[in-house]
Amino acid sequence: MPSATPPLQLDPYDHRFHWDPYPTYAALREHDPVHYNAALDLWFLTKWDDVYQAFRDFRTFINTGATSLEKGSTEKLPYPMFIFSDPPEHTRVRNLFMPLMTPAAVQTMEAYIRAQARRLLQRHAPGGRFDFVADLGCYLPMDVISTLTAVPVEDQDRVRGWADDLIAREDKQHDLSERNVQGFISMATYFEGHRAKHRALPPGQDLLGVMLRAEQDGRLTQAQVVGTLILLAIAGNETTTKLIGNMAYRLWQHPEQRRLLVENPALIAGAVEETLRFDGSSQIIVRRVGRDVTLRGKPLRQGDRVGLCIISANRDADKYPNPDVYDVRRGARDHLAFGLGIHACLGSALARLEARVVFEEILKVMPDYEIDESGLQRAHNPNVRGFTHVPARFAPR
Ligand code: HEM
Repeated sequence: MPSATPPLQLDPYDHRFHWDPYPTYAALREHDPVHYNAALDLWFLTKWDDVYQAFRDFRTFINTGATSLEKGSTEKLPYPMFIFSDPPEHTRVRNLFMPLMTPAAVQTMEAYIRAQARRLLQRHAPGGRFDFVADLGCYLPMDVISTLTAVPVEDQDRVRGWADDLIAREDKQHDLSERNVQGFISMATYFEGHRAKHRALPPGQDLLGVMLRAEQDGRLTQAQVVGTLILLAIAGNETTTKLIGNMAYRLWQHPEQRRLLVENPALIAGAVEETLRFDGSSQIIVRRVGRDVTLRGKPLRQGDRVGLCIISANRDADKYPNPDVYDVRRGARDHLAFGLGIHACLGSALARLEARVVFEEILKVMPDYEIDESGLQRAHNPNVRGFTHVPARFAPR
């Protein structure tokens, strides 16, 4: 529930804030849309127009040394990931992977995704109990990205565990912890071995094959291959997992909208878009200011860091009528949940496909599910927004 006077202060590390950040964002959009947090030494942009422009203006808002909220995190996590780079290097590396990630290319995975979703659901259908994140959300996106990078099933739990360690934040933890750094190092060690093993084999047609061929002909370094594998294991997994939990929760809160989807599954794709707008799983993306700029009268200096508050922009009343209303028929595809411009999410088509197929299957098996609110648990991270547990009951099948 919105409080009467939400504090005009944004601490994305505060665990209480994660439960309902929207009143704070609404107050910031109204009273201090270009907000400076002195303790974090970070600017925050909260209006749709400003976040949109910052995503588009990649010369003023740069990614080198940015993207993660923690200062200096790229030095502590020493493998180059193309998300932390700018043109021309960023364009060159990203273009290697683009052909495999278009809507048409990922569409070939639909049958596999559906079969995996069914397999995970069938285990729980007779029992009438199901955790949207712990029983499905955390497995399926990891399984899909692992298929594209040749990570075997028996290793996936470990890789996911390290990704969870990397993103977990204690209450008000403003810097990387030992657990975060260790998660990264474990993943890097694993992917060094994975790369070495696969270099001895003929490269496949998947994302790993693209990387190994590029390394062979000098277009990627060994460190870039490992860095990209880490990036994909995190980006391809955590946000999609959380989107599934967020959507299950919002459809439970709005049973009349869920009924619409059960009666007409063709509306599910639109419900995925509305969930991304209403409660997306990527909260804040960070940029570094590449050249001095004044925004709404506030001077941002070269080198400053800026948080682009995606989930705030997507609730901006100047952009969306009744922005706090969840409406699966809204039809807004111009939300910023996947970012925009040169760094726009590489996996957006895949994430959309996964979420649509998963909910087509979920609503067949448990159209009547009821979430046990007391069992909800949140993941705490300033970027990734969502739950680690969304337990539910439904009529057993
Ligand atoms: C609901 C799910 C997802 C959300 C909300 C999401 C969100 C985002 C956002 C906001 C960005 C922009 C980062 C920036 O501007 O610096 C991004 C970039 C990226 N995403 Fe996703 N993502 C999702 C799923 C995926 C998946 C499934 C993959 C797997 C391939 C993926 C891979 C990437 C990569 C590699 C980038 C970096 C692109 C670049 O810098 O050019 N994401 N994502």
